[in-house]
Amino acid sequence: MHAIGIDIGGTKIAGALVSEEGEIIAEDRVATQAGDSNAIVDAVVAMIEKLREGHEVTAAGVAAPGFIDAAQSIVYYTPNISWRHEPLRQRLTERLDLDITIDNDANAAGWAEFRFGAGRLVSDMTMLTIGTGVGGAIVTQDRLFRGGFGAGAELGHMRVVPDGLPCGCGARGCIEQYGSGRALLRMANAIADVGGIGLGLATVREQKGALTGPDVAALIVAGDAGALQALRELGHWLGQACASLSAVLDPQVFVFGGGVSVAGDLLLDPIREAYLSHLPARGFHPEPAFVIAELVNDAGVVGAADLARLHAASRA
Ligand code: BGC
Ligand code: NA
Ligand code: ZN
Repeated sequence: MHAIGIDIGGTKIAGALVSEEGEIIAEDRVATQAGDSNAIVDAVVAMIEKLREGHEVTAAGVAAPGFIDAAQSIVYYTPNISWRHEPLRQRLTERLDLDITIDNDANAAGWAEFRFGAGRLVSDMTMLTIGTGVGGAIVTQDRLFRGGFGAGAELGHMRVVPDGLPCGCGARGCIEQYGSGRALLRMANAIADVGGIGLGLATVREQKGALTGPDVAALIVAGDAGALQALRELGHWLGQACASLSAVLDPQVFVFGGGVSVAGDLLLDPIREAYLSHLPARGFHPEPAFVIAELVNDAGVVGAADLARLHAASRA
């Protein structure tokens, strides 16, 4: 049976009706009113009602960018929107006659890649989503890892710099501050400030008043030396983090998704380089593959739908 998957992001809410084989039957998207929790709930309800129309659907999965509880009901905390102990499942269940499951956005994306995409041939996969924040998903021995309180696999909040930059989670020095799309923008601005290879970035910044993610992406594609340097810096941080993750999780494949992953090999090359020079037991430990996500923008909705279907079946 088809299921619905919803992916709540910082800028947009995406939704889809998804088959058991992970195919998208219908889809929808609206802008997120990030500061307004009620508006987000209203938008999710409206989207689910619209997507289910004319189809037999019993389960919907809603992926959110934050720490989720083990019962998959409550959003404990979202670093980049303002949910604190938000009873999201209950709020949706009150208004929808459907089996609702809440999940972490990166867990949903990672599950989709494991089932239908870049991780489908392995038993152990680690995924990092590189967007506004850094999300994480861990599949070990063919199972999605959640942790004891449900909020595990928050890989973006591993500390990589003692007392480093403050993070939206309340801690300091998290990889999210050194490996996210926002971090890339900060690095690009710093390179623009210095001049030299930063001239291209500085010129665009002056023309437009401020640099945006799409500006930096365009300069990367155009081969601008400053933008490429910023991407390399980002990749080095991520590669070091992956070396530590290998020591803990030992995946056969690392998958990179999220907006910044459109950079492809330009992102993967510095990641692999830093990984290899920081890997414990390097030279002796087997080398995992480093790949870009295959489902790109659809991973969140496809994974949320699949997890909701599995969850509903286990409750039935
Ligand atoms: C949040 C994660 C989320 C990631 C990507 C992080 O800041 O803590 O829960 O998966 O951003 O949205
Ligand atoms: Na996660
Ligand atoms: Zn953090």
